Amino acid sequence: MISGKAKLAGVIGDPISHSKSPLIHNYWLNINQIDGAYIPLHVNSKDLISSVKSLQNVGFKGINVTVPHKIEVIKVVDELSDLAKKIGAVNTLVFKEDGLIYGDNTDAYGFIENIKSDYNKGEALILGAGGASRAICHALADFGAKKIIISNRTINKAEELAKELNVDVEVVELDNIGNYLNNLSLLVNTTSLGLNGNGCPDIDFNILNKEALVTDIVYNPLITPFLEKAQGNGNKIIDGLGMLLYQAVPGFEAWFGKKVKVDDELRNMVLSK
Ligand code: ATR
Repeated sequence: MISGKAKLAGVIGDPISHSKSPLIHNYWLNINQIDGAYIPLHVNSKDLISSVKSLQNVGFKGINVTVPHKIEVIKVVDELSDLAKKIGAVNTLVFKEDGLIYGDNTDAYGFIENIKSDYNKGEALILGAGGASRAICHALADFGAKKIIISNRTINKAEELAKELNVDVEVVELDNIGNYLNNLSLLVNTTSLGLNGNGCPDIDFNILNKEALVTDIVYNPLITPFLEKAQGNGNKIIDGLGMLLYQAVPGFEAWFGKKVKVDDELRNMVLSK
């Protein structure tokens, strides 16, 4: 039941109808019997700032921000978290009691939470240098990864990203990845290869360290061709759905006042929809 005092939050993006965030947050609202709602809102770029202000004015506790607004929305933020500042993108806004807007990037948090019990902070190779890679590289640097290796089709994007990281970092041409595989602790695909089952980064899994943890940010399909090959090689894999689920935790706590857990029931519910 939603009363007149219900706490409200939501997600803005363009498009928005594919978003899984309403499923996740309303699941937690439901099981915790919280008087609140989380709704998807289609907001186009020209209305971004006025829409955020309007949601704040009508009493929303905050919102998630998704594609294509994660960078532009920083204009409306009064206080940025350190990680959001470094990444240059925000996915969670909190409308504070004092009227200020706090902006955070919980994609980084979600990525680390999803792997931290299996990742030993050793060498990490990140494929891709787009928005998701930015969040992941900064998150790994912040988490204390020993070394970050970045490879991307467009090499100068990897070089730009590498310059920002205050850790041991190396940029590698896609053709030379083979020289780095036997020493890795973590291999991450942040490219869009594998989305809808199409394509796979060109990796010789035979020479990948068997102890390396392998993960993908794509979660549709859950087991991408990349993860399937890694698993076939005997490597431990972690799918990308966990990152999506964990990134929702800090926002939920900030808006609805409850620290929630990611569990199999939530995973299965999201997968069944
Ligand atoms: P996201 O926000 O999900 O990271 P993005 O910023 O568009 O999305 O980045 C997509 C990433 O996938 C980039 O690293 C891109 O490589 P380029 O920088 O060279 O464009 C990578 N990518 C997309 N299609 C690819 C392909 N066919 N082969 C290799 N890399 C690809």
